[in-house]
Amino acid sequence: MAFLLALALGALCAALFLRTVGAQEKGLPPGPPTIPLLGNLHIFPTEFAHYKFTEWARKYGGGGACYINTSSFCPSPAHPTGQGHSFYTHIRRYSSSVILSVLYGKRAPRYDTPKTTGFWEAQHEWQLLVEPGSTPLIDIFPFLKSIPEHWAKWKRDAKKVRSLQRAVYFGLLNETKRRLRSGEENRSYMEEVLARQEEFGMDEEMTRYLGGALIEGGSETTSSYLQSLVLCLVAYPEAQKQAHEEIDCVVRDDRMSTLDDIDFFPIFTHCFRPVTPMSVPHATTAAEEGVSSMTQASFSCPLSMPSLSKTFPPALYDNPEDFNPDRYLLTENGTRLGVDSSDLGPNIVFGAGRRICPGRHLAQNSIDINVMNLLWAFDFNPDTRDSQSKI
Ligand code: HEM
Ligand SMILES: *[C@@H]1O[C@H](CO)[C@@H](O)[C@H](O)[C@H]1NC(C)=O
Ligand SMILES: *[C@@H]1O[C@H](CO)[C@@H](O)[C@H](O)[C@H]1NC(C)=O
Ligand SMILES: *[C@@H]1O[C@H](CO)[C@@H](O)[C@H](O)[C@H]1NC(C)=O
Ligand SMILES: *[C@@H]1O[C@H](CO)[C@@H](O)[C@H](O)[C@H]1NC(C)=O
Repeated sequence: MAFLLALALGALCAALFLRTVGAQEKGLPPGPPTIPLLGNLHIFPTEFAHYKFTEWARKYGGGGACYINTSSFCPSPAHPTGQGHSFYTHIRRYSSSVILSVLYGKRAPRYDTPKTTGFWEAQHEWQLLVEPGSTPLIDIFPFLKSIPEHWAKWKRDAKKVRSLQRAVYFGLLNETKRRLRSGEENRSYMEEVLARQEEFGMDEEMTRYLGGALIEGGSETTSSYLQSLVLCLVAYPEAQKQAHEEIDCVVRDDRMSTLDDIDFFPIFTHCFRPVTPMSVPHATTAAEEGVSSMTQASFSCPLSMPSLSKTFPPALYDNPEDFNPDRYLLTENGTRLGVDSSDLGPNIVFGAGRRICPGRHLAQNSIDINVMNLLWAFDFNPDTRDSQSKI
């Protein structure tokens, strides 16, 4: 009898415990309904997570624990077809060339060189792997780590990405070393890192990956920004027309633009559809008072989520989904009139806090000069040869 009672009590405790696991913690803002054990795991988006998060933010609304007011202004890049493909790779080649020159003193004169295509191939595989939903939640369920590779596709994929990345990153550093040995240095960033490796306490592996992380940080960000710009210009012909008129006033046909021209032409280079819509999740290192009485020591916080601002009254931006550079003529940071945007600024796209993008100055200059030159040189139009083609 006592045994049965103990068993019943045990079952009750277990049931109560299971109910709490996965339930929403007190103090958190409203969110989608949870189920026992899994919480929201069963409805967690496995692709394009930022769209789902935006939808939830709109549905469950204000009082959010963690948001940065920001907005996004244009359609996301679709994969261009036909003729469009060359603008896509031209822009990629450009961003690779800038970062490779800075880091390794090596340009990327063509897209189809082994280093450049090798990088973009590795990058593509890498992104498939890090997209939320494409790997099991190993951080939450560490036992998944012990699944043998044979049944774990993600492990095989990770191995493949690792070797693709290492071939590119190691190869580049090896080349730099060879040049150093033969007295051909040209003061690139990685040469300096190599020279001061000991001072920085960096071993070989760290040095290789520092270069790699910087290529990654610098390549696709800048190119996605410029690719989005081209798509927006096609999608919003009025804005393109206005931009052409403005650039033609400042920069005449006899020369290309220089960075000095940007002061006459600031609005097109401002805040824009975030290149990394969820940014890099941040975690707190201690319980965060004041952020809606959050109790956990650590929570992950996607920054600069697109369009979240729409959910908050009063809305920060007029039609945040529209590509409307004019908004920066209306107010300094592109918000609605009368909105205090002093803790918002125009450049939340580069993240915030201690981990803010260290490449933002390079990136801003790179974007400024290219936006001006692209507008100076080109009319962007839909590909009319293919009536099915969408922007
Ligand atoms: C349009 C261009 C760029 C955009 C939109 C961009 C955006 C970002 C964002 C949102 C982050 C995360 C910040 C955070 O966690 O708060 C970041 C981090 C980083 N970016 Fe950029 N970035 C750009 C260009 C560059 C360039 C050109 C470089 C290198 C020269 C670079 C190097 C990095 C690095 C190394 C980090 C990691 C910093 C850390 O975790 O401490 N980025 N970037
Ligand atoms: C750095 O040196 C290499 C080898 O001499 C050369 O090919 C490259 O163009 C130089 N890069 C720059 C940015 O001067
Ligand atoms: C780079 O050099 C290291 C050490 O000499 C060598 O083991 C590695 O295979 C080289 N990697 C590439 C991609 O050239
Ligand atoms: C951001 O949105 C919140 C919630 O609506 C609001 O309280 C805050 O003032 C906004 N910040 C800015 C800079 O507008
Ligand atoms: C725009 O953002 C900057 C911070 O980057 C801030 O100093 C300025 O006050 C903001 N402007 C308005 C009108 O809120």
